[in-house]
Amino acid sequence: MKDAERKHIISILESGEMPSSEWSAILFPNQKRECELIYDGKAREEDILAETMSVPLQQNRLFGNNGKGWHNKLIFGDNLQIMKSLLDDKKSGKLCNADGTPGIRLVYIDPPFSTKKEMQGIGGAQAYQDKLAAGEFLEFLRKRLILIRELLSDDGSVYVHLDWRMNSYVRVLMDEVFGKDNFRNEIIWRYRRWPSPSPNFQKMHDTLIRYSKSKEWVWYQLFESKSESTLKAFGNIKLTTEITEIGTVKKIKTEETSDGTYMSDVWVMSMVQGSASSERKVASNYPTQKPEALIERMIKSSSNSGDLVADFFLGSGTTVAVAEKLGRRWIGSDCGKLAIYTTQKRMLNLRKEIGNKGTSLKPKPFALFNAGLYELEKLSEESGENWNRFVLQLFQCREVSHKIGGIQMHGKLRGKSVLVYSPQALKEGEEITEETIQEIHSNVGKMVGEEMFLIAPAMSFGFFQDYIDCGDVRYYALRIPYSIINELHRRDFTALRQPENENAINETVEAVGFDFNRRPKLKYSVDIEKAKKNALIKIEIFKSDARVPEALQMDGNRETLSMVMLDYDYSSEKGFFEFDEIIYADDLKNNKWTVSFPSEKIGENVMAIFIDIYGNEARELISAKDFKKRTVAKGKKTGTTKKRK
Ligand SMILES: C[S@@+](CC[C@H](N)C(=O)[O-])C[C@H]1O[C@@H](n2cnc3c(N)ncnc32)[C@H](O)[C@@H]1O
Repeated sequence: MKDAERKHIISILESGEMPSSEWSAILFPNQKRECELIYDGKAREEDILAETMSVPLQQNRLFGNNGKGWHNKLIFGDNLQIMKSLLDDKKSGKLCNADGTPGIRLVYIDPPFSTKKEMQGIGGAQAYQDKLAAGEFLEFLRKRLILIRELLSDDGSVYVHLDWRMNSYVRVLMDEVFGKDNFRNEIIWRYRRWPSPSPNFQKMHDTLIRYSKSKEWVWYQLFESKSESTLKAFGNIKLTTEITEIGTVKKIKTEETSDGTYMSDVWVMSMVQGSASSERKVASNYPTQKPEALIERMIKSSSNSGDLVADFFLGSGTTVAVAEKLGRRWIGSDCGKLAIYTTQKRMLNLRKEIGNKGTSLKPKPFALFNAGLYELEKLSEESGENWNRFVLQLFQCREVSHKIGGIQMHGKLRGKSVLVYSPQALKEGEEITEETIQEIHSNVGKMVGEEMFLIAPAMSFGFFQDYIDCGDVRYYALRIPYSIINELHRRDFTALRQPENENAINETVEAVGFDFNRRPKLKYSVDIEKAKKNALIKIEIFKSDARVPEALQMDGNRETLSMVMLDYDYSSEKGFFEFDEIIYADDLKNNKWTVSFPSEKIGENVMAIFIDIYGNEARELISAKDFKKRTVAKGKKTGTTKKRK
């Protein structure tokens, strides 16, 4: 660094400003690596860690209660932002294994293999697209692997589930992120499936790549049966679990001696069995479900009882179901509503044995969280203190209580003061007007520097501008439920995307930022088609109310519908949605936008959740009586129409 550059950066830091991103390349030059994967759009690791937004976790529901103890976590949202928040928890000592060691002991991920673009054909312009898509996918995954490494405990491990499409690239990426020396295994999961004619050998395996965070890792030796030929040649020699010599490894834990042999890195195991199997039934609507027995091996070999196990691409919830059965703490996240509702139901209907067999198992208390897409009503139920903490985190502020000019401030953002007005602190009808800002200015004047931030419920601001200038000070208004000020966030927000058909479930989804659930506009009617004994919900109007640029352009009726989920026998005592059926928008389109199901399934009430492609929900409780009322003579169907804004 040149002398002038050094002086300049010191003056920026002393002024409390954030250095611009060009400085990061000068301050933290790239380390030279032996071998590196190059692709377009590859960001510097330091920038990824510094610039990823963390979003607060809003507790949506608690199943059971541990008081102030640890609650397992099921989190809806984009996993990158979630991991950043969990990293803050790790730093503040809130993310621990049962033995008190910080961080997550074991992470398993089964990411979507690649983007839609990459899957489409080959040749010509498309081949170029493929390369672009591969780079995008790798960067998507690399960012997450970096965060996973930071979240792992020092002796933790990660397993990444891949297939032939991306495993060669990801192995190189993982060498970069975790270090070549921390590569531990490439496990081949050999399964059977229906053969199909092809000019290649049948593709019958997936790959699990395993890395440890450091030279120390938790390890329990697993065994498998000896082959006939070994038994014949050597007899049944008992193998000990004691490891006599391994170079750098310090922590080897094993429990038993065995007649078997040390488990190899080729695992022969069926995929989840046919639709009637108990394991498939728990997640019958989830296409990429993995066998519990596969996850069992990873958890048993690479974590202690009571350790924290996480899966950030949770899907149908296999990892957390197995973690629960094996007495581990767990965290699972997914950006799909289907995944979250499937897992919630799976956890509440667990069976003790692997493969979802045996007697039922009551899970330890767990909490369902939203991360990035929040419920405003839930927030308004919080105490003033919790409201302040939540909104400070939402706008990436630090919670720092301090006084300036006699005014109590609550936080700091980019080194500048933040004043929060919770609904509880505001008097009935009190507004924050331009005069309020003038008054604040007369007290704090230049003592706050060039900027100050005010956070308050949107309704309580009596002006519409994003900021008001008084003298040399700019006072920003940050509004709840929503406020995106480009110069503040320095990035574009992108909404989550929910699938419109089953094939889209395994797509890569990336969302940045936050929003509050905005109930889509919905008008529907219910009916019973007597002859066929089918209950019908006809969707007449559905329109997303999300404040994202694409939504404003999508004007067609029902164009923004993603899916409808049903709980056939919702009861107020149960009090939570237990998902039974999903109908995707593409299928509804082919059925004249009508949800149709056997009327015999209807319990006391049906809960129908209409979800837009950004994850916003309109929940409708339809009583059995509503359907019955409409049991009108054939040919005279009129239907009950429910209309809400
Ligand atoms: C292959 S599936 C996982 C299947 C899972 N192993 C099982 O046994 O059911 C991949 C999952 O990643 C989720 N996903 C994709 N992008 C994500 C993101 N950015 N954040 C969180 N989840 C994501 C998808 O919604 C999908 O459920």
